[in-house]
Amino acid sequence: MTKVLITGCAGLFGANYSRHLLKMGHEVVGIDNLSGGFLENIPEGVKFHSFDLLDHIALENLFFWMKPDYVYHFAAYAAVGLSPYIRRFNYQNNMIASANLINECVKSEVKKIVFTSSMDVYGSQQVPFKEELTPLPEDPYGIAKYSVELDLKSASEYFDLKYTIIRPHNVFGVYQNIWDRYRNVIGIWIRQALSGEPITVFGDGSQVRSFSDIQFYMKPLDAIQDDFDGETFNIGADQYITILDLAKLFQDIAEKHVPRPPIKHLEPRKEVHTAYCDHTKAKEKLEFHDGTDIEQLIDKMFVWAKSAPKRKVKNIEYEIEKNMYEFWR
Ligand SMILES: NC(=O)c1ccc[n+]([C@@H]2O[C@H](COP(=O)([O-])OP(=O)(O)OC[C@H]3O[C@@H](n4cnc5c(N)ncnc54)[C@H](O)[C@@H]3O)[C@@H](O)[C@H]2O)c1
Repeated sequence: MTKVLITGCAGLFGANYSRHLLKMGHEVVGIDNLSGGFLENIPEGVKFHSFDLLDHIALENLFFWMKPDYVYHFAAYAAVGLSPYIRRFNYQNNMIASANLINECVKSEVKKIVFTSSMDVYGSQQVPFKEELTPLPEDPYGIAKYSVELDLKSASEYFDLKYTIIRPHNVFGVYQNIWDRYRNVIGIWIRQALSGEPITVFGDGSQVRSFSDIQFYMKPLDAIQDDFDGETFNIGADQYITILDLAKLFQDIAEKHVPRPPIKHLEPRKEVHTAYCDHTKAKEKLEFHDGTDIEQLIDKMFVWAKSAPKRKVKNIEYEIEKNMYEFWR
């Protein structure tokens, strides 16, 4: 039986991919500190360990006893817009935690570590972003992701660590944390709509993104397990949409579940205006196919969210308050 270690097993990627691996008959061990994911998301069958990846002793012990074949590193705090205000936390959680994991992967000679980086590493370049572009991240989250990409390359050169990187973008689906006020636009809107609040849009909503269904990531995540060492793949949807058009679409779907939520425009946020990727490489090499149906998935998320426990929306302690947006004060 193949032993697979999943970090961030209580989050969107971890909860969905653990289920997929269990169905395929793998042994799945999961780590999560439950900072952004929930215990209820972890499927029965996962051998779950609740600790922080910053705890390198706990990590060392787990690797010693488990000796994983493969590691899928999903754990992170992916709040692009907030990352300049929580710099230290961002680098500890997304960079140092990854360094701890990479150390153990090298020591126990895993067959492969898969790292979920992000489209955010590209910054503001010509769309659609292609893998050959030199990353130019503009915020601490993207910088942390790119530094882990470089660290994996270094570990492979020094220690022959096998790794593959995927750069997802705007993924959504069931088990997403919809109670985080700082990230994941569709999740935020579902929570706002269910609470009878207006759905919020930063600035005029002309920002362009493309949204993909988590279910279409399972196949490429499998495909890179034993192949494509040292390679990087963009994974996500080809179809792009402005945030305002998405908000209007969202209103129509929301109406099936709650009174139609109005749209409220907030002050603009400093962010990359237009961001989506080219997926030719993943389509050709990994047989990746994206079949995202935004309307259907939002509808499914509403049904799921209505039956999910009521959770508190937490505020994060900012390290810098200078230039903080009104909406996050
Ligand atoms: N969802 C997206 O749209 C998207 C886009 C690009 C990249 N990514 C990347 O994909 C990965 C998975 O994203 P997701 O959407 O599943 O995120 P998520 O927030 O749903 O899941 C991350 C999980 O990691 C856990 N975690 C965070 N820090 C930890 C730590 N220090 N120790 C142990 N556990 C920790 C959280 O509790 C959470 O359960 C992340 O690395 C993210 O940066 C996601």
